[in-house]
Amino acid sequence: MLPVAVVISGRGSNMEAIARAAQRPGAAFKVVRVVADRESAAGLARAQALAIPTSVVPFGQYPDRESFDVALAADLEASGARLIALAGFMRILSTGFVERFAGRLLNIHPSLLPKYKGLDTHARALAARDSHHGASVHYVTPELDGGPVIVQGKLRILAGDTADALSARVHALEHIIYPHACSLVASGRVQWRQGAIYFDGSPLAAPLVEESDVAA
Ligand code: GAR
Repeated sequence: MLPVAVVISGRGSNMEAIARAAQRPGAAFKVVRVVADRESAAGLARAQALAIPTSVVPFGQYPDRESFDVALAADLEASGARLIALAGFMRILSTGFVERFAGRLLNIHPSLLPKYKGLDTHARALAARDSHHGASVHYVTPELDGGPVIVQGKLRILAGDTADALSARVHALEHIIYPHACSLVASGRVQWRQGAIYFDGSPLAAPLVEESDVAA
């Protein structure tokens, strides 16, 4: 089973979805550690409740981003993880960190990338009167939210939707697509080769898409 570390900053609902998927019979991966950048991350307690080892690399105790990234990298290497899943990790990683873990580093972002990189994605999708919105699991590259996308969860924006309502529905989709992406990588169906994604041995021309019109 592929050892996975999950890195969080907050409540950790995606981390929990990944961890629960890993605990199902036949899973191709296991979560070996959950790492937070702050003691107060609510997801730490969720991980402990699932009997997953946790560690904290407290961002505030490092003089700059580079030294934090060195400490985070050391913690992740010590965990033995071969895949790292950023799940609500709200910091920008240095190029050195990203290059060190190239092809082993995934992130989930709450938009249909390349739309709405950065923050406030739900409000921006509403303001643009988009018909659809969703979330993307992608390999991390030095360009923020810019790496190749493995899988997207896509849903229809409903009349009267608010950012909160949309966020709740997107979260439910995230909890499906992130474990799915981990499975695809762990089983070898998805591979990273020199900056490109291969799916079942062929270049992946467009992200895999899970459509959902489930109302929250
Ligand atoms: C998720 O919606 C994730 O897509 C988003 O943070 C949330 C974390 O929720 N990530 C980003 O915005 C990264 N740019 P969770 O802590 O409950 O998993």
